[in-house]
Amino acid sequence: MTKIRIAIQKSGRLNEDSLQILKDCGISIDNGKDQLKASSRNFPMEVFYLRNGDIPQYLRDGVVDIAIIGENVLIEKGEDISIAEKLGFSKCKVSLAVPKSVKYKSVHDFEGKRIATSYPNTVNNYLREKGVKAELHIINGSVEIAPNIGLADAICDIVSSGSTLFKNNLKEVEVMLTSEAVLAVSPKISEERKALLKRLQFRIQSVLRARK
Ligand code: PRP
Ligand code: MG
Repeated sequence: MTKIRIAIQKSGRLNEDSLQILKDCGISIDNGKDQLKASSRNFPMEVFYLRNGDIPQYLRDGVVDIAIIGENVLIEKGEDISIAEKLGFSKCKVSLAVPKSVKYKSVHDFEGKRIATSYPNTVNNYLREKGVKAELHIINGSVEIAPNIGLADAICDIVSSGSTLFKNNLKEVEVMLTSEAVLAVSPKISEERKALLKRLQFRIQSVLRARK
């Protein structure tokens, strides 16, 4: 029997809500926490638990058919991948922030500055549009520490509650984009699996309506 292959975040902020929405769709997943692959008992679906940043490439390659992923990750790494549904959870911003003590006037203040980030494409596109040239330092996590240790003058990262910025004495000065979890679709999905996607979307839409 053909199954639709869905990628969800292995760990991190989307993981729980992603499993929850599948559950609310009536899809039970046999879930050994340490397993990287699981199947549903009552829907033709296989679940792959993957690292967030790897998911766009898996979709592109058609190794998975669909994924629940942050829109911000698609904007950074998968502009070619289409979105079937916005899912309404894991809302966040991707923002530029500077030390609280800095007197900030405009985006031109970033000219010639060092910015630490895990979102180089997003920052580059944003600054290019504004005509600002800065130097990027790409790091994969704990980005907000960079100004405190002298690695950068500013950072660009996800802001959700704002508590990480606050704890690191930073202030948000530019919101580059807002994001939420989305259902993304591989460009290589087969017709047969597209039919399964339709069934899933039908359920998701009624779950989202009920949540309103
Ligand atoms: C994420 C993100 C921000 C923070 C934002 O980091 O990179 O640092 O959460 O959330 P907040 O505004 O609610 O504080 P995460 O904790 O996932 O760790 P990482 O950056 O080391 O991956
Ligand atoms: Mg972080």
